[in-house]
Amino acid sequence: MSEFIHLTSKNHSLIIKSGRVPEILHWGAKIASIDEDLLLSTERPISQARLDVDVPLSLCPELGSGHFNAPGVEGHRDGLDWAPVFNTTRVEANTTDVEANVQQATFVLEDTVAKLELTVEIKLDYQSDVVQKRVTITNKGDSKYYLNKLSSTLPLPNHANELMTFHGRWCHEFQTQRQRFEHGGFMQENRRGRTSHENFPEMFAGTQGFSEQQGLVWGFHLGWSGNHQMRADVRSDGRRFVQAGELLLAGESILEPQASYQTPWLFGCYSNSGLNGIAQRFQQFVRDNIIDFPTDKPRPVHLNTWEGIYFDHKPEYIMQMATEAGVMGVERFIIDDGWFIGRDGERAALGDWYLDEAKYPNGLEPVIDHVNQQGMEFGLWVEPEMVSQDSNLYRNHPDWVLGLQGYHQPSGRWQYVLDLQNSECFDYLFSRLDDLLTRYNITYLKWDMNRELVQPGHNGKAAVHGQTQALYRLVDQLNEAHPEVEIESCSSGGGRIDLEILKRTHRFWASDCNDALERQAIQKGMSYFFPPEVMGAHIGPAECHSTNRRHSINMRGVTALMGHMGVELDPVKESQEEKKAFSHYIALHKRFRHILHSGRSFRMDPADKNQNIYGVQNDDEMLITVCQLAMPDHALPSPLRISCVEDNAQYKVKLVEMPQTSFQLMKQRPQWLDKTLTLSGDNLKEIGLTLPILDPESALIVHLEKM
Ligand code: DGJ
Repeated sequence: MSEFIHLTSKNHSLIIKSGRVPEILHWGAKIASIDEDLLLSTERPISQARLDVDVPLSLCPELGSGHFNAPGVEGHRDGLDWAPVFNTTRVEANTTDVEANVQQATFVLEDTVAKLELTVEIKLDYQSDVVQKRVTITNKGDSKYYLNKLSSTLPLPNHANELMTFHGRWCHEFQTQRQRFEHGGFMQENRRGRTSHENFPEMFAGTQGFSEQQGLVWGFHLGWSGNHQMRADVRSDGRRFVQAGELLLAGESILEPQASYQTPWLFGCYSNSGLNGIAQRFQQFVRDNIIDFPTDKPRPVHLNTWEGIYFDHKPEYIMQMATEAGVMGVERFIIDDGWFIGRDGERAALGDWYLDEAKYPNGLEPVIDHVNQQGMEFGLWVEPEMVSQDSNLYRNHPDWVLGLQGYHQPSGRWQYVLDLQNSECFDYLFSRLDDLLTRYNITYLKWDMNRELVQPGHNGKAAVHGQTQALYRLVDQLNEAHPEVEIESCSSGGGRIDLEILKRTHRFWASDCNDALERQAIQKGMSYFFPPEVMGAHIGPAECHSTNRRHSINMRGVTALMGHMGVELDPVKESQEEKKAFSHYIALHKRFRHILHSGRSFRMDPADKNQNIYGVQNDDEMLITVCQLAMPDHALPSPLRISCVEDNAQYKVKLVEMPQTSFQLMKQRPQWLDKTLTLSGDNLKEIGLTLPILDPESALIVHLEKM
């Protein structure tokens, strides 16, 4: 006998039909109540030349019951019990209190032949409308169960016929691509041992041509920092689904009797207002449920020393940099790579987490004191999971390397990964980090991770799963010991950006690419899921170190100030003019930080495809950035039609930022650029604001205040 479970949130409904197996019947706009005839009206016909029974697309599809696409679970008991079929034995649902933060349902299913139990948990967050799902499998037999795969499956409606997925690489994170989604599908498999630049675990499906502002869209993110598999499939009967879970290497999950394996959380979200509706919901969810800043102070503006001095550490000089940084308005000063014993370049010393006294003969304290005296916090770079072959740690403990005996393991950036499941190694790393945080007044760690896992073996067995969990344990243990310290998740830039690592960290280094033009795309891709206050964005030198391209300070400043802002250069060597500009953009960021770091983000579908238009708003004000990425498409710009205003409200509209050099493409500028306008919502929405003609690779910011 089927029954419906109706989870509701502020705007959405999730209706699950609970028969032999649970099946989502609707996930989208809110349904007031379930009609009595819904069971009949949704009954599927049975087509010719197929199985004689209806096969539900369940929350854990089964090969054994005739789901011929990717099953939710795969495994065996020495070759037996490889096609399990489950029956629901228990359903628990909390759907009563509509205002409750979370409505949830838990289904317990059993296969008495294969002796397996499945627990499917699904939650709907009331405030943000975000869905979370995970599955647990328990071995109820008396022999080992070799689990090959356990994934979370969420269905999509048939009108979701276009996919947007992510690709990328170092310095080129969060790139998107589109494809039709009518037959076949898309699959990404990440075997790099970290979340990765290449296979960011997120995708979108929607109605054809869905855009920033238009269309029905479903978004998905897997919260996991190791290997994963993520796919979207259209079955030959037209039904379609997204499936994501950990990619288990051979033998990584062998379940002893009574042992369980649990998937990472899969996060999902629906929007009827394009990608904006997804981004706003995910960002709210992340703010309310994931981010846990030690204090609610504003996010401090950073100076990170990496591109300023690389490995050339001289305490007196660093103090000079700190003095300049303080004058510019920087609030947190971070010493990057190069401070520890023997670290004169990238080929040595990882693992030896002791101060290099040859470089810092008076210790680190005078530098930290100086930084603090300039009114700034102090942060330090570490890369705990790694070891250089040329290090004392490696010389003393070559067996601590994560690897496989009998093979030659390639190094990456001349370094190897440490086996965090080796308890001695784990304890060593914890004690070194704990000692640093206890000894020095450090309030921030930049936690880097600069290579992929090749031959990740622990005692000969595949160990990405165990390594990932041990990493979480290490960070958790450190957070517990030093709750006031914030941690940045960096992995050669954006190689470890996901929700599970964010539960225990406080900022992401989005990319090693500080080229503002590239950053426009990288930050756009990242913003569909993560709010600006965790998106590290720095002003780099005029000539970008990773692309050799030059950008004006206007383009660099505007791009960085919309995230969690910082600067990444040597202020001592910069001209007075540049330094004045850094101060200007830092001040602008601070002026609007309250809205940038708590408001609703939005993007606009530009009439000119060479523009990137994005903004952030709260109930009283709005900040909009228009970035001209390349040559304007037409001689005159299209009016900026601001759709997220209130029709009947009046707004004070003022330009707060535009290129400081002369305009090349415009000989007469609109007069309003020097005035404050008063405009009503419907005028702004329907008629719009005429913009100046922006030169390529420049940007402006407009501020709107509701009167
Ligand atoms: C890679 C990071 O992404 C950079 O920001 C910097 O910290 C270097 N590592 C240091 O080695």
